Amino acid sequence: MNPLKRLGRRRASVLSLLAVAALVTPGAATAAPDAVRASTLGAQAAQSGRYFGTAVAAGRLGDGTYTGILDREFNSVTPENEMKWDTIERSRGSFNFGPGDQIANRAASHGQRLRGHTLVWHSQLPSWVSSIRDANTLRSVMNNHITQVMNHYKGKVYAWDVVNEAFADGGSGQMRSSVFRDVLGTGFIEQAFRTARSADPAAKLCYNDYNIENWSDAKTQGVYRMVRDFKARGVPIDCVGLQSHFGAGGPPSSFQTTLSNFAALGVDVQITELDIAQASTAAYANTVRACLNVARCTGITVWGIRDSDSWRSGENPLLFDRSGNKKPAYQSTLTALGGSAAAQRTGAPSPRSATALPSSFRWSSSGPLVAPKPDATHRIAGIKDPSVVYYNGKYHVFASTASPSGYNLVYLSFSDWSQAGSATHHYLDRTAIGAGYRAAPQVFYNTQQRLWYLVYQTGNASYSTNPDISNPNGWSAPRNFYSSMPDIIRQNIGNGYWVDMWVICDSANCYLFSSDDNGHLYRSQTTVGQFPNGFTNTVIAAQDSKYALFEASNVYKVQGSNQYLLLVEAIGSDGRRYFRSWTSSSLAGSWSPLAASESNPFAKSSNVTFPAGTWTRDISHGEMIRAGYDQTLTIPACKLQYLYQGKDPNAGGDYDNLPWRLGLLTQTNSTC
Ligand code: XIL
Repeated sequence: MNPLKRLGRRRASVLSLLAVAALVTPGAATAAPDAVRASTLGAQAAQSGRYFGTAVAAGRLGDGTYTGILDREFNSVTPENEMKWDTIERSRGSFNFGPGDQIANRAASHGQRLRGHTLVWHSQLPSWVSSIRDANTLRSVMNNHITQVMNHYKGKVYAWDVVNEAFADGGSGQMRSSVFRDVLGTGFIEQAFRTARSADPAAKLCYNDYNIENWSDAKTQGVYRMVRDFKARGVPIDCVGLQSHFGAGGPPSSFQTTLSNFAALGVDVQITELDIAQASTAAYANTVRACLNVARCTGITVWGIRDSDSWRSGENPLLFDRSGNKKPAYQSTLTALGGSAAAQRTGAPSPRSATALPSSFRWSSSGPLVAPKPDATHRIAGIKDPSVVYYNGKYHVFASTASPSGYNLVYLSFSDWSQAGSATHHYLDRTAIGAGYRAAPQVFYNTQQRLWYLVYQTGNASYSTNPDISNPNGWSAPRNFYSSMPDIIRQNIGNGYWVDMWVICDSANCYLFSSDDNGHLYRSQTTVGQFPNGFTNTVIAAQDSKYALFEASNVYKVQGSNQYLLLVEAIGSDGRRYFRSWTSSSLAGSWSPLAASESNPFAKSSNVTFPAGTWTRDISHGEMIRAGYDQTLTIPACKLQYLYQGKDPNAGGDYDNLPWRLGLLTQTNSTC
């Protein structure tokens, strides 16, 4: 029994209604025809849910070569100068939105996102502001500027650089001297962010700076400490922009570390002003790859289109030459984003865009197929968290048994779903797996070791092995994957619980995923040869608000494609459980939304029909019927089936006493 877990679960369902407002869906990929998708920067970035943007100068919008490239390649724009203070409020209280509007309206009519740049900055600041010496005056001038500008662009700007370049270069790690810091004190940044949040609560609020790309630099550390402090104290901040004005060598080797360390604080990261002296192909590709490897790196903006448009034009730092031709760095950038050379030549879809799965799902559910079978020593309220393989002519199902006195595991097998209800339940607490807290099993066969693995939670991530899946007494005593909870989980788990361990391997590595009931999906890694030992490098593989990314993750390989599918259970605005889905081309990669929202869920009562009667409104923890049974967890691309837990919608009370039953979903909108 784990009383903490019980408390957490019960609290979760009570509070779930409060989660509605906090449910954030990561930006969905913009739909584009396949042929286009594979051959432009913006559309290729959109395949992983990211944007690829550029700085735009209003003065160049009359140049057809410029706008031709702009509209073909980019799905986000940042005004290069038009939203800066010296353009928008050149004299106090007199606002000039013309040039900014020109860019904003054009972006809207071309389906491009808009980054707002920038509200509070020591540079390109009119002298009437920089000469203010009175704190009250400056505070109201700053707040008024933020409020007026954000109000004007409300609904048009996706993310605002609220404060730009406030930290000093060099070794101090402190804020630079500026009229804002000198007159208002270092608290001006917090003040600016709070004002910005109330002006436009829907816009993402970013801190933007340069020379914060190298992790060990004092300036990076200074900004990191500020963001950490903001998150700890609830000061509103959603993103960190790393300008990324690089020298010829490109990004520092720690760039990806920096991105993921900021992201681990619970903010998005964006590359906001990328340009690289001499634009080497490797430097651009390395920059793009670092972003793609970090789930919360949500987009890349280059600081201009052609070298002749650049503020560093002498260094030829951009992706298009002065005539508007694609430079070699363009090709390496597109390739790094996932586009293939063949696709660029022929206009054919790249292999990655050959999406095997649809982007929305419909299901039909069975009635309850498996119910608990209590005996004299097993008073069981619910049967939960099923894992299933089809092997040797039989379905082999492992599940949690739940009751207020504790959790353990059960095994049953049957040759046909019609016999699932009559199968014998083998209680695994009678085997070497033993009594005590064991839950949420996952079963697979390790082909190298010729052993079945049962992975489950015990407070740690544990496993048992068995040479014969059909022999319930063959399981070994539990062993742990970790010596203790990895630091990153300890740091992020908050009031959550470490649950739902999941192992999947590709040909080189095995990955162990787990959840914390607090909005984080973790991933650790070891080599196939070392498995089950050596799980290290634990990172946050995905994160969202607590109820939007709650628990019960599944990760699968989709047969016949190079796609992986991630499912995570969320708690909906109705307090009911449902699943969201993402895909990735790599198990260690970032996940892009597939059917990931409450309105377009992977599986929720809203996209499931119940021909035998609506016996549940929760579509909760379960597992796909796989195409095989080994460690690659391969699923078919067609006619998916999902074994899940559901319960009487009217049942309530203690989470551990709920009457969970197992049912089977069958996909009804498969096109193959
Ligand atoms: C630059 C523009 O590109 C130039 O046209 C302008 O003269 C000066 O500013 N960091 C920033 C950007 O945040 O706003 C700057 O843009 C480049 C450095």
